[in-house]
Amino acid sequence: MKKFRFYFTLLLFANTCLFAQKVKLINSKTEATIDSIISIMTIEEKIGQINQYSANWWDFNGVCTVKPEHLLLIEKGEVGSFLNIFGADITEKLQKIAVTKSRLKIPLLFALDVIHGFKTTFPVPLAEASSWDMDIIFNSARYQAIEAASNGVHWTFNPMVDIARDPRWGRIVEGAGEDPYLGSQIAKYRVLGYQGNNFTLPFSIFACPKHFAAYGAVEGGRDYNTVDISETTLFNVYLPPFISALNNGAGTLMCSFNEIGSIPSSANKHLLRDILKTKLGFEGLVVSDWNSIGELINHGIALDSKDAAILSINAGVDIDMESNSYFNNLKELINTNKIDIKIINDAVKRVLRVKFALGLFENPFKYCNKSDEKQNTLTTEMIDFSRESAKKSIVLLKNNDNILPLKKDIKSIAIIGYLANSKKNPLGSWEQLGDSNNVVTLLEGIKNKLNNSTKIDYSVGCFITDSSRKYFSEAIELSKNSDYVILNIGEDSKMTGEAKSKSNINIPGIQEELAKEIYKVNKNLIVVLSNGRPLTINWLSENVPAILETWFLGLQSGNAIADVIFGDYNPSGKLPVTFPRSTGQIPFYYNHKNTGRPSSNDLTQLTSRYTDLSSSPLYPFGYGLSYSTYKYSNLRLDKKSLNESDSLKVSIDIENLSNRDGNEIVQLYIQDITASLTRPVKELKAFRKVFIPANSKTTISFTLKNDDLAFYNNQLEFVSEAGNFKVFVGTNSEEVLVNSFELIK
Ligand code: NOJ
Repeated sequence: MKKFRFYFTLLLFANTCLFAQKVKLINSKTEATIDSIISIMTIEEKIGQINQYSANWWDFNGVCTVKPEHLLLIEKGEVGSFLNIFGADITEKLQKIAVTKSRLKIPLLFALDVIHGFKTTFPVPLAEASSWDMDIIFNSARYQAIEAASNGVHWTFNPMVDIARDPRWGRIVEGAGEDPYLGSQIAKYRVLGYQGNNFTLPFSIFACPKHFAAYGAVEGGRDYNTVDISETTLFNVYLPPFISALNNGAGTLMCSFNEIGSIPSSANKHLLRDILKTKLGFEGLVVSDWNSIGELINHGIALDSKDAAILSINAGVDIDMESNSYFNNLKELINTNKIDIKIINDAVKRVLRVKFALGLFENPFKYCNKSDEKQNTLTTEMIDFSRESAKKSIVLLKNNDNILPLKKDIKSIAIIGYLANSKKNPLGSWEQLGDSNNVVTLLEGIKNKLNNSTKIDYSVGCFITDSSRKYFSEAIELSKNSDYVILNIGEDSKMTGEAKSKSNINIPGIQEELAKEIYKVNKNLIVVLSNGRPLTINWLSENVPAILETWFLGLQSGNAIADVIFGDYNPSGKLPVTFPRSTGQIPFYYNHKNTGRPSSNDLTQLTSRYTDLSSSPLYPFGYGLSYSTYKYSNLRLDKKSLNESDSLKVSIDIENLSNRDGNEIVQLYIQDITASLTRPVKELKAFRKVFIPANSKTTISFTLKNDDLAFYNNQLEFVSEAGNFKVFVGTNSEEVLVNSFELIK
């Protein structure tokens, strides 16, 4: 088996040289070829290229089938791409029809939602975002690409780069959390991982940042709901991860289901043409979301599918996924001059660009190789990486009196909770071909870690939503008689994801009650949370000595959690999203505005707060403990004032006061104190994962440049403004040291 990980160090170097500039998709040589192909295409063939269908789905053995009528369409050149089709055999068979039987022999594109793995399941995206580790982010995408491409996939509908400030929204699990800067970094490294450094690495597939735009801002956190935000918020909060993905070469993009300011994205010319294709210079293709063109009728802006097709194609949606609006109507609309053929030509051109860039015209069968499929699926290297990613994605929320890590020679331990023995849940919300038989549960992971001298007992305690207390007494009895208890509670993996919004984010069912009962009999209680969104965990946070946030960690979940519990890995993850104290606090995010009356603890003052709840989060953005203790000191700047062409060096000393080596994620925030628009109280602008050996001190320096101080102003120009700034450096968004400087213009 070839080793794939090796490429990353090279790529990091290449990045600094290659990716300062925007990566281009257009290549003058192929543009001429594309134009000549378009010039000989019939209207039907053009419509075919911008028409996408799904497979009949797949069976339990992962074998996909295609609807018979679609086979005929391939032959006629009336379908350009499919989703949900994979496998060397079937993709080869379909591609053969396209390139031998269709008139123009244009190859097909095969797309799939490879979100956190194809067959080798990695941690869910929100978990990997908690690693703040771009090596992990890049390599996870790279392995996903290698495995998916080896199974016939050309194009993944990922990364989801939607900023999510509302944990009620079920799709928070698919993204990188609440912060535009962290989200932009993650978007960049995922795109580079999937697309393999602009297709220079083997088994590269197209990335598709989604859902454009502001899908995470749905009112009330209810999926598909209305979005109504200002354009400055759109540009400063929701667009940065998209811009980062595009600047790093993302060649495709998916528009969102939601409306913004009363216009659904799939009909939003301003969003797709003015902003995306003109202002941001996007050269690739825009695919609709599943039937989002058809849904324009429900939105109430299209009378029928003909109307919907006119709106979407004019708005700049290049491919219709599954609604048949283009297929059924475009020909008539062109023939009756209701649609300009130039618009269709532009959409076709964008599709062909992607096919050329992937090299499909040269070799349409490049990913239909049975030996690649065999060699590059579920490899040991991928499984090992899944464990590495998983342990780095875990966030230690609480560790009173250093109860963790546990020693491996403890006499007895009780493992409690349905989730601890569930093979299905670690697969997360987009398990695709992930097989629960390959999952290592928490119970198995702990058994793998300990030898026979430790007595390990297990009880389910209770199920996730079931109200039966049938197993309470068994769980309590085992807990009473054990030195330590590991209680694994949280959500079912299907409680987050598409259409999985919730009106309250408490721990489901009677799991917290179980925790309380166990705590009464054994105070050595370690809670392991498995969930796809922040949960309100106030009682746990106030009472139990240790809490680990583990999200859904993929195939190696149990081994990775055991690595952390028993100290083989010193936790380093940090929250990419705020944990509120109550659902009523939502939306609650660290980079909020100050308001005219910032919240005060003095309730006699009239300030922006709830009178019945603290104004602070339960756990802030960027929060996460380690088994090491770090002391930050001496935050210093190399100048107190700078002009636009200067850079500012920000340095800080960090001491590891413990006897354990550790990795700390050092975070730098700024506040623009006076600006032409109100600015957040803090904005993340840099971070670094730093290895700090036991009992040693190190100095970290960051360099801030003019662009780091800039934002989109009222004219939507990205500019910095003269004035005073604060700079903060610390271990999370709240525990920081502060200094200040002035930008002079
Ligand atoms: C709908 C989802 O919103 C989108 O994220 C996904 O890529 C498509 N379905 C295709 O499966």
